[in-house]
Order: sequence, then C-alpha cells, then structure tokens
Amino acid sequence: MSAKWTPDSWRSKPYVQIPNFPDQQALKEAEARLASFPPLVFAGEARALKSKLADVAEGKSFLLQGGDCAESFAEHGADNIRDFFRVFLQMSVILTYGAAKPVVKIGRIAGQFAKPRSSDMETKGDISLPSYRGDIVNGSEFTEKSRIPDPERQIMAYRQSAATLNLLRAFAQGGYANLEHVHEWMLDFVESSPLSERYTKLADSLSDTLRFMKAIGISADQYPSLRETDFYTSHESLLLGYEEAMTRTDSINGEYYATSGHMLWIGDRTRQPDHAHVEFLRGVKNPIGIKCGPTSTEDGLMELLDILCPDNEVGRITLIARFGSDNVQEHLPRLLRRVKAEGRKVVWSCDPMHGNTISSESGYKTRPFDRVLKEVQQFFAVHRAEGTHAGGVHFEMTGKDVTECTGGARAVTDEDLGQRYHTHCDPRLNASQALELAFLVAEELKEERNGSTEQIAV
Ligand code: PEP
Ligand code: CO
Repeated sequence: MSAKWTPDSWRSKPYVQIPNFPDQQALKEAEARLASFPPLVFAGEARALKSKLADVAEGKSFLLQGGDCAESFAEHGADNIRDFFRVFLQMSVILTYGAAKPVVKIGRIAGQFAKPRSSDMETKGDISLPSYRGDIVNGSEFTEKSRIPDPERQIMAYRQSAATLNLLRAFAQGGYANLEHVHEWMLDFVESSPLSERYTKLADSLSDTLRFMKAIGISADQYPSLRETDFYTSHESLLLGYEEAMTRTDSINGEYYATSGHMLWIGDRTRQPDHAHVEFLRGVKNPIGIKCGPTSTEDGLMELLDILCPDNEVGRITLIARFGSDNVQEHLPRLLRRVKAEGRKVVWSCDPMHGNTISSESGYKTRPFDRVLKEVQQFFAVHRAEGTHAGGVHFEMTGKDVTECTGGARAVTDEDLGQRYHTHCDPRLNASQALELAFLVAEELKEERNGSTEQIAV
C-alpha cells in the first residue's frame, strides 16, 4: 500500500533541481496567491487529452509535441506565439498526410519555464554564480542579483502562461487553424528554403481536396474539424511549489489535477522513484510523460510505471525516449521489450534533441541536424523491428529563423551559430529544420503504414 498522497506530500521527500529560495516568507506568499488564482486548464481538457493519447498508444493516432526549450519573459510577443503555431500547424498537416491518422498536438508552451541544470553553478573567468534555472526562478543575466531565486517570478510565469494560452485558444478555435488557410501558414523566410516547394505541393493537393469536398457539400462552415483544432499545453513538472499551488480538485469527481498545463512530464534528472517529483506526479490525474535516457533501467522503468500508473490506464503514460543518435539501438529495444512483455499500455515518443547536444568549435551548445534525423530514423527502425507502434515525436523548435542547430537543407554552419542564437537554454530547430524533420517523420509513418498494409495483404 502506498502512503496517502496530498498535493504537498512531495515536501517530505528528497529532491534535486529545485532551488533554495532565500526569502521563504515571500515564497509562501507567492504560492498562496497562485493557489487563489483561476486554473489555467480544466480537468475535463486534461481528460480529453488522455483519451486522445490512449488512441495514440493503440496506434490509431500520432503525437506531435514541441516548442521552446525554455519560454522567456523577454520574448513574450504575439508574433512569437503566432509563428510557432504556424509551423506547428504545418508540421501537423505534413504528419497527418504521412500517417493518414489524426495528429494529437501538444505544445511545450504556456508554462515551460523551469529548467533542470547539469551544474548548480556557472563559472565565467574567475566568477562563479548560481546557474540560471529558467525565468520562473531567476534571471539569465550573469550577475549576482539576477541569479537569486525570486518567488515573484512565479506570478509572472502564471500571467504569461494565461496570456499565451488565451492566444493559442483563439488561434486553435477562432479560424486561424482552418485548413483552407494551409498556404498562409508559410512563414516568409521559409519561402526561400527547399522545404517551401515541398510544402506548397502538399498544401496545393490539400486545397484541391477541400475544393472537391466543398463541391459535394462538406465545407469548413459546417464541419468544425476542418476549421478548428485541439491544441494542448505541456511542460516539465519541475518547480513543485508552483505545481502544488496550481493543483485543484475536479468538481465533478473530486480527483486532483495539475491545472498549470494539460500534460506534465518528468525529466531525465528528476525521475528517482523515491523522490519528490515522482511523488507529486503520482497523485494528479493528468496525462504524464516520463523521459527515458541511457541511464533508465528496465526494472527502474517498471518501478516508475507501478508508482505512476498502477492501474495501467491507457493514455496516462507517454515514454519519451531521448538516448542520443548512437545509443538508440543499445537502449530502446531492451526497454521496449520489457514494457511489452509486462503488458504496459504506453505511448512511445521520440525526443531526438536532448541526447544529441554537443559543444561546437565556436563554443556554442548545438545539435547537429543529421544526428537529430538519425535518432528519429533509429526510433522508427526499432519499433518496426519489435512490432510496436512509434507513437510520436517531441521536439525543441521555434517559428523563428534562428541559427541554433547546425545543418538542415538550408545548412546552418558552425560559423553561422552566432548570427541568431537566441535560445535561453537548449538549441532549437528553426522553422525550416522543423518542417524538414516533419517530412522525414511523415516518410517513416508512410513506410509504417505501407508495411502494415502489406502484412494484412499477406
Ligand atoms: C527538456 O525537455 O528540456 C529536458 C531538460 O529534457 P531531459 O530531462 O530529457 O534532459
Ligand atoms: Co531542453
């Protein structure tokens, strides 16, 4: 029997990656204020997402999850959100074509602020300061003052999340996502990229289909699924004081839900089964993600699944594999086989970003695009070999023309990195790279589809 869960039961467990706030009184006050604010998302929405993820686990849909590594207070503009949403919609159209299945859309957005760090301190020259832990905790500026954890930032993160979510809901439901606009989602700077032609071809064929459907009486005016989309939010459940304050009971059934986002995930550095992060997530009913890395053991993963999903509820768990392009073959099959052998119903998703971070010669943290591609290909290959469903992908990406990851069709070189390296944390795919990746995933999905058709035919 597990001990009783309460929204604050995590506080009696050990934890890592949560900073010490020097002003405890101010922290308490900020958390109390947050607890009095309206929820950002509703339990019913989180439940709806869980049921869509159940379809993904069963191979009926595909998951696209992506967005910033870390959202920032400085870049909270409508253009940023719109451009991200446009690329995300483009990717999802590409994937829908490839998979011939619905695509479940989840952004790393409207709450993705807190960051785990590999080191508690950052050193420049002979000065060492506490590491930057995301705008919800402290400032990225390399000064003593800026690096002090400030509870007021949690209020700012909440308000920014609310505003972002408001715009996203308007875009998703208010006509922007209408498939008749498929050509208009193209961003100007992508038009000069080789990806543009490919996307335009696909958009042309979609427009033809829509015209045909309209001619036979099926139009966007009458069918909401042609003019609206469901878009969900997610972030790493890291800053547990904030998450606790945003936890509410569902008025319908009294269950607890984290209302800071629809889906929360547990990071590679905070998935110790007896620690606070696992404790917190076991009690909220949202769909949750678990990052799986090279250090994940089969027994360790089973222990986590027993704690976080004791009833094997399909849709509850998404396993997000992030091994690094050279390590997929070594680690994914052993975990896949065990999960399958135990009859665990999960979504398998591929994060080809976090295992492929390197330091460039010019000193920037970067991710070579060919390694990102390779990890995705390996992920699909392993699933094909094991007869399991490659359920989704998880990317760090932006709608901006940044130069943070090297490579891609419009090749970003090592020397280019300094031009538009804007990320507050990890390097993200720019819009062209994100589209290129979506086409690759679509090809893999098509192959999976053809493969299974052949099997049925035999
Ligand atoms: C992240 O997703 O931004 C992250 C820090 O990932 P991981 O926990 O897999 O390293
Ligand atoms: Co990251």
